[in-house]
Amino acid sequence: MTMAMTTGASAGTTLGASAAEKGRYFGAAVAVNKLSNSTYTTILNREFNSVVAENEMKWASNEPQQGVFNHSSGDRLVSHAQANGMSVRGHTLLWHAQQPGWAQGMSGSALRSAMINHVTQVATHYRGKIHSWDVVNEAFADGGSGGRRDSNLQRTGNDWIEAAFRAADAADPGAKLCYNDYNTDGINAKSTGIYNMVRDFKSRGVPIDCVGFQSHLGTSLASDYQANLQRFADLGVDVQITELDVMTGGNQANIFGAVTRACMNVSRCTGITVWGVRDCDSWRGSDNALLFDCNGNKKAAYTNVLNALNAGPGIPTTPPTTTPPPTDPPPTTPPPTTGGCSASVSLNSWNGGFVASVKVTAGSAGTNGWNVSVTLPSGAGVTNTWSATASGSSGTVRFASVDYNSRLTAGQVAEFGFQGTGSGAGMTPTCTAS
Ligand code: G3I
Repeated sequence: MTMAMTTGASAGTTLGASAAEKGRYFGAAVAVNKLSNSTYTTILNREFNSVVAENEMKWASNEPQQGVFNHSSGDRLVSHAQANGMSVRGHTLLWHAQQPGWAQGMSGSALRSAMINHVTQVATHYRGKIHSWDVVNEAFADGGSGGRRDSNLQRTGNDWIEAAFRAADAADPGAKLCYNDYNTDGINAKSTGIYNMVRDFKSRGVPIDCVGFQSHLGTSLASDYQANLQRFADLGVDVQITELDVMTGGNQANIFGAVTRACMNVSRCTGITVWGVRDCDSWRGSDNALLFDCNGNKKAAYTNVLNALNAGPGIPTTPPTTTPPPTDPPPTTPPPTTGGCSASVSLNSWNGGFVASVKVTAGSAGTNGWNVSVTLPSGAGVTNTWSATASGSSGTVRFASVDYNSRLTAGQVAEFGFQGTGSGAGMTPTCTAS
């Protein structure tokens, strides 16, 4: 006799449906050119309720020349996901690998500026369409140091990761912003280095929402895999299994099941993504590391994952309250108290540049439109604006609301941002409403 394996809800018969019943997603990495293969898409559409681009949203793919963006493959995946009710993970805004040649050759403040611009432009392009972004991928070193990996990005200054998170938050405040890495499958020096960074970010209000555990696994699973997820969750971030694949062999199905159970047992583990659909789609080639064989048949690992999803607890509707929510960094200037709207600005600065995030709050009458004026310090210039239209680029610059954020009800907040060169210190925005 088979036992009912759910805690109330009926057992799902596909990975995505079973995960959804437990308030989670189950996703796959997709090679976008395979979306025209019907065997592939039949499995994808039947089994998964989340996708991530295996390569097509990487920097080398979508900004092949500086300032020239090509989102066609990423857009194709987003359209496919929307048409099939799937959420989308974004992978990845910044990584030491798969950089376009022009960025590989850059350094210092020029690279910092280019990198922030990349984050801003890509996150703005996909604004509102991405469930979770891997804002920064693989920035910690392997081995026992627990420190950062050397890279051209790291050499722009240790604050490059938080600068990236602030820029992503300004561009797409609705997306969950994740740090993603591998060899973090238990409590070890590398995962502890990341843990310390996340704890520091939370204490200082750097906008991080989640940590991705890639989980490219071999023939055994760390005994403290779940404990490691839990210690991050206890910092007040979601955790996600982001690139799961497992070496073939006797233990493969058990490990897939154990990883799934670990996620289900951590209430802030919000989803699992496997790094491909069929064994033959995997970057790991002969490891046969996935849930479907090359003919599209379900493997024993599939059954273990499905059973673990169906047996696991759901995410509680009230989030645990063990960790207080993070507080935003204080705005650099207090909002003015008069007028039909007020504005405050917070800055993410580096040597030679900055990103300004501006919050506009409607007064008691609401707004049909708003304008924010900012006088830039001498020598500073605006290079980029999102969610508003800028008039001028130096001196006093006026930012006007755009279609989707003009009409605000009393007390409602809209956010826009701009990137600048020079120093943005001491800017005082003034807001007028219409
Ligand atoms: O598309 C070109 C093709 O035109 C060309 O003929 C061929 C020649 O080598 O290369 C093809 O591009 C390859 C691409 O995969 C698509 O197949 C790249 O060389 C190859 O480097 C790239 O590998 C990807 C790798 O990341 C590097 O970006 C893998 O598919 C992808 O699975 C892997 O994914 C990473 C995650 O992003 C981060 N975590 C680790 C994970 C596994 O390495």
